[in-house]
Amino acid sequence: MERSLVLLKPDCVQRRLMGKIISRFEDKAIEIVAMKLMRVTPDLAKQHYAEHVEKPFYPGLEEFITAAPVVAIVAQGLDVIRVIREMLGATNGLNAAPGTIRGDFSSSRQMNLVHASDGAEASAREIALYFSDEEICDFDSCLESWCRAGDE
Ligand code: CMP
Repeated sequence: MERSLVLLKPDCVQRRLMGKIISRFEDKAIEIVAMKLMRVTPDLAKQHYAEHVEKPFYPGLEEFITAAPVVAIVAQGLDVIRVIREMLGATNGLNAAPGTIRGDFSSSRQMNLVHASDGAEASAREIALYFSDEEICDFDSCLESWCRAGDE
């Protein structure tokens, strides 16, 4: 089992798309083991986007990600990091394939609705930034035996 940090960004919250996006993950039988509505502070933004802080677009990115609440989610499943990245589509909504979340709902590079961890190392780092261990509620999914075979 793998985990990914997913953020429904301020544009997703403001556009009332939270339910639609969460439904896509639920429809795929991805488990949600933690979730909260919260505000990203400038300090948290700098930690989350540490690799982008020096880039020219960072000030705009920080202004955007702190401008309204986000929904932070820990998603869990087999190969979930890759699966969610593929469900999101290309970073720029204008380039994202139809059928992907960004392809269906976003027409922007910055306002691309959802963030998801891009690898195992990023996932561990990002989950620790947003959630304490106590906030993660792992549970036995009653759907498990109907979503994949035992040897998958
Ligand atoms: P995300 O997957 O959250 O990771 C970094 C974010 O920075 C990205 O989504 C976009 O929202 C934003 N981003 C990436 N590249 C650019 C860019 N060239 N200009 C503006 N924003 C960008």
